Amino acid sequence: MRFILLLFLTFHSIFAQTPYEKGKDLYISSACYSCHGHKLEGIHRYPYLANRAKGYMTYKLKRFREKKADTQQQEMMIGFAVGLSDEDIDNLTTYFRDYVEDESSERYDDSYENYGDGGS
Ligand code: HEC
Repeated sequence: MRFILLLFLTFHSIFAQTPYEKGKDLYISSACYSCHGHKLEGIHRYPYLANRAKGYMTYKLKRFREKKADTQQQEMMIGFAVGLSDEDIDNLTTYFRDYVEDESSERYDDSYENYGDGGS
């Protein structure tokens, strides 16, 4: 019984991802983070995406997908948007809107304390 439960949970986590999780996976596998940041915080002139309005983000991604950009800088996005399906965009924009920082990942461990005189 316990085995079946475990099996169910395993399948559940592989096949029944939430839109948020799917959006997150896609964000990582499509290398969106290389410009928009691991925490969706934006890098230099690349805009942040965390907790942005879903409607506006959807509008922008669909425009880029249609190869429409208002500035030369925005044209950079076209290549990344052309391959996205409506569902992809829905998942991504859900991820952006609902984004919460994942405390457990890649956190700097500051629990270590250095006692002693350090020898100097
Ligand atoms: C090579 C860098 C680069 C990559 C990779 C990239 N983007 Fe962008 N993204 C940009 C630039 C540049 C803009 C336009 C900024 C501007 O309006 O001047 C932009 C704009 C956007 C916007 C609109 C934000 C706004 O404020 O209007 C969204 C949404 C977005 N990107 C999502 C994505 C997603 C999703 C991916 C991955 C599939 C991705 N980006 C990958 C550079 C990048």
